[in-house]
Amino acid sequence: MMNRLPKAGTLEIAPSILSADFASLASEIAQVTAQGIQVVHLDVMDGHFVPNITIGPPVVKWIRQCTDAVLDTHLMITDPEKYAPEFIKAGSDHITFHIETVDDPAVFIDELRSQGVTVGVTLNPETPVKSIEAVARLCDMVLVMTVHPGFGGQSFIDEAAQKCRQVRQIVGPGVRIEVDGGIDATTVATAKNYGADTFVAGNAIFGQKDRAAAITAIRQAMKG
Ligand code: DX5
Ligand code: ZN
Repeated sequence: MMNRLPKAGTLEIAPSILSADFASLASEIAQVTAQGIQVVHLDVMDGHFVPNITIGPPVVKWIRQCTDAVLDTHLMITDPEKYAPEFIKAGSDHITFHIETVDDPAVFIDELRSQGVTVGVTLNPETPVKSIEAVARLCDMVLVMTVHPGFGGQSFIDEAAQKCRQVRQIVGPGVRIEVDGGIDATTVATAKNYGADTFVAGNAIFGQKDRAAAITAIRQAMKG
């Protein structure tokens, strides 16, 4: 495996399948990649770190069979050190873990890299940027949560998004900053202006009937 994330500096929309029809994932994903989407966001929840349960490695394995898109895997789980290797074996290209869940994040980042994936670190809305300061530059991407993780369709938290500014100062231009939660055509420009370049959107894409129109609307707003 290799670094499959689009190179830093481009603006990317990463549709989250959390709001997709899980019985038709292949065609759901094909609808967004047909629009030039390169990164698909996979939300993994374990019912412990967050109060919801989603998908595990077997589902990622079948998604891998049906798309060449970069599989951006967001682990909202209590024990990412135990389970990340399974997601990597299943075909994840990128693993993001929560800083709240790992004792020695620098070591974990190295371990993930040695397994051939790119690495992201993320923090909950109430977790200070200071908690990732020491390791943010070791990552390919920093994910700034803009809702409390667990569910799609929640409202964008502006104060949480503002943390992108501080993160950008720490990481410089070479590391992607992703925002996740409540991103749509009305919030995407705000997040971009704070320094984000990678925009997860679940409800704003898969919650809409016309996915092409939904992506176009976010792209237009993203330019603002
Ligand atoms: C929230 C997940 C998000 C979620 C975003 O816990 O991490 O990726 O799917 O959904 P929207 O875009 O609907 O807020
Ligand atoms: Zn997510």
